[in-house]
Amino acid sequence: MGKGHHRHLIRAAILLGAAIFLFFVVRALLIPKSFGLYGHFRGENLAEQASLPIVHGNPNSCAECHDDVWKIKLAGRHAAVPCQDCHAPLTQHVTEDGVQPMPIHKTFALCARCHQKLEAKPKTFPQIDFHEHVVSKDKNLENEEICLSCHQPHSPMGEK
Ligand code: HEC
Ligand code: HEC
Ligand code: HEC
Ligand code: HEC
Repeated sequence: MGKGHHRHLIRAAILLGAAIFLFFVVRALLIPKSFGLYGHFRGENLAEQASLPIVHGNPNSCAECHDDVWKIKLAGRHAAVPCQDCHAPLTQHVTEDGVQPMPIHKTFALCARCHQKLEAKPKTFPQIDFHEHVVSKDKNLENEEICLSCHQPHSPMGEK
């Protein structure tokens, strides 16, 4: 074996060592200080999230002013569906400048969010093929507010 072969390996080893060293230097520079403080995430992120403005109200926060709707909902099949899921966050509606308009979504797009039939949904969750469902009742989806003609959104199996 000639001497040349030997040098080759040493050069490669030096390069590899340098690459590994560089990797750890760059890594140390890039990882934020608070990483790993509480777990495999940036510890400071907790304070950052906590300082964001609160948008949604407590799920019961609509009850004090809309007692009528609240009671209807509680007695029906949508008892567990939060008002804010169908309307909008509380802070958009009740503000320092008084009560602002609250959105009301009347089209079947709202219902589709939860009830559109999907293979991946648990079988026990009520889900329908919208087209089939309304056609089976001699209606069609041309009227985008068709669901509300039979279902009262606050108590969907209740009297309409
Ligand atoms: C501080 C009292 C107050 C709270 C809390 C409140 N609202 Fe209202 N809301 C009102 C008032 C006042 C109106 C306007 C008067 C009206 O049309 O009933 C209104 C109107 C609405 C309307 C429009 C009614 C219409 O016919 O156009 C919707 C929808 C609504 N609120 C939903 C909600 C939801 C959902 C919540 C909880 C996230 C909520 N509100 C919390 C006072 C309140
Ligand atoms: C499943 C979705 C859904 C949920 C949950 C829901 N709403 Fe509604 N809400 C609607 C729709 C859709 C309308 C429009 C109904 C219509 O015009 O026939 C409506 C209408 C209203 C109105 C206008 C007046 C009326 O009674 O139609 C108020 C006020 C209101 N909602 C408040 C609330 C409050 C308060 C809650 C929680 C207790 C709530 N909603 C929960 C979908 C929902
Ligand atoms: C945010 C999700 C959500 C939205 C939006 C929603 N629902 Fe529901 N719905 C539910 C849940 C949750 C239940 C109760 C399921 C249970 O008890 O297993 C339910 C129950 C029902 C039921 C009773 C089904 C049964 O077999 O008893 C009907 C009917 C219904 N919803 C119709 C509607 C209509 C119409 C709309 C649109 C106006 C709508 N839902 C919007 C979540 C939603
Ligand atoms: C013509 C009246 C009518 C219309 C329009 C209608 N439904 Fe229904 N829906 C019913 C009746 C009645 C039932 C009870 C079971 C049945 O007959 O299918 C029902 C049942 C349901 C169920 C429960 C299904 C289950 O397997 O538990 C859901 C969810 C539902 N409807 C959502 C909707 C949505 C979303 C729309 C709009 C795309 C809509 N419905 C339009 C009358 C109607």
